[in-house]
Amino acid sequence: MRTMLVILLAANIAKAEFTHKRHAELNLKCTFCHKGAETAERATFPGWKTCNSCHAEWSEQAIPSRRVYKVPDFVFFSHGRHAAGKVACAACHGDVKAQAVLIRHRDTKMADCIACHKTSKATVQCSACHEIGQ
Ligand code: HEC
Ligand code: HEC
Ligand code: HEC
Ligand code: HEC
Ligand code: HEC
Repeated sequence: MRTMLVILLAANIAKAEFTHKRHAELNLKCTFCHKGAETAERATFPGWKTCNSCHAEWSEQAIPSRRVYKVPDFVFFSHGRHAAGKVACAACHGDVKAQAVLIRHRDTKMADCIACHKTSKATVQCSACHEIGQ
């Protein structure tokens, strides 16, 4: 019985996935793992070396990078531009530290982009988000 339990526990640990919630109390900056989130187009996902500063056992394959938010390639989106405009991560991604599994806080359809651009008096010109004339 006891061996069984130990094996089950071990299997659980091996399957454990990264969650923001489990790391919330460490108060890491988002950019500790998402290096481009304030300066570049892409926020990017962390590599295993970033995890290894605390977890020696992590290998490259162990890090998940599921996609919850995605815009098509023909759309121009830049994290850096929004950070420069003081739009908080939470305005688009919600309170990720409270989430055990990331849920989509806000849609990334054109209508959703435009809705916020209108209320925050940002541009709604087609050419800001699309390359015109191709
Ligand atoms: C600054 C230190 C630090 C970094 C960096 C860090 N972690 Fe953690 N991680 C912790 C701590 C501390 C815990 C334990 C939290 C707790 O007890 O709930 C933990 C818990 C976990 C757990 C849960 C383990 C279990 O037994 O349920 C997983 C999975 C995990 N981390 C994966 C990752 C991954 C993947 C990365 C890189 C993307 C990462 N961690 C980066 C400190 C860190
Ligand atoms: C210790 C590293 C670490 C820190 C700190 C961290 N993240 Fe993450 N984040 C990850 C990893 C690993 C994933 C991919 C796994 C997942 O979805 O949970 C991820 C996924 C995400 C995603 C989902 C992207 C997508 O399309 O799937 C968002 C949004 C996100 N993080 C936002 C944030 C925000 C906002 C903060 C700061 C409040 C933050 N993260 C802090 C490691 C981190
Ligand atoms: C104005 C809305 C908005 C804000 C603000 C925002 N994001 Fe995003 N985020 C998105 C969209 C849209 C995508 C999908 C981008 C794509 O597909 O190219 C995304 C994708 C991501 C991803 C997936 C990896 C990647 O590089 O695409 C992560 C991680 C992420 N965001 C983290 C953050 C963090 C951390 C912040 C704050 C510093 C932040 N985001 C601020 C809308 C936003
Ligand atoms: C929560 C509000 C919000 C959402 C949602 C949002 N944006 Fe924005 N966006 C802004 C603000 C505010 C600015 C202006 C930043 C500045 O002036 O520095 C901006 C600026 C931009 C710019 C730069 C425009 C220029 O003047 O060159 C682009 C491109 C852009 N957003 C694309 C998008 C796309 C694509 C989406 C949807 C996937 C989106 N945004 C969703 C608030 C938002
Ligand atoms: C703030 C950013 C933004 C602006 C401004 C914007 N779009 Fe879009 N557009 C998007 C996003 C994001 C998508 C992809 C998601 C979707 O299909 O809703 C998209 C998709 C599209 C599509 C493809 C729709 C489909 O069903 O495949 C067309 C066509 C389009 N936009 C035309 C325009 C025109 C014309 C304008 C100017 C009147 C415009 N867009 C302004 C963000 C924007």
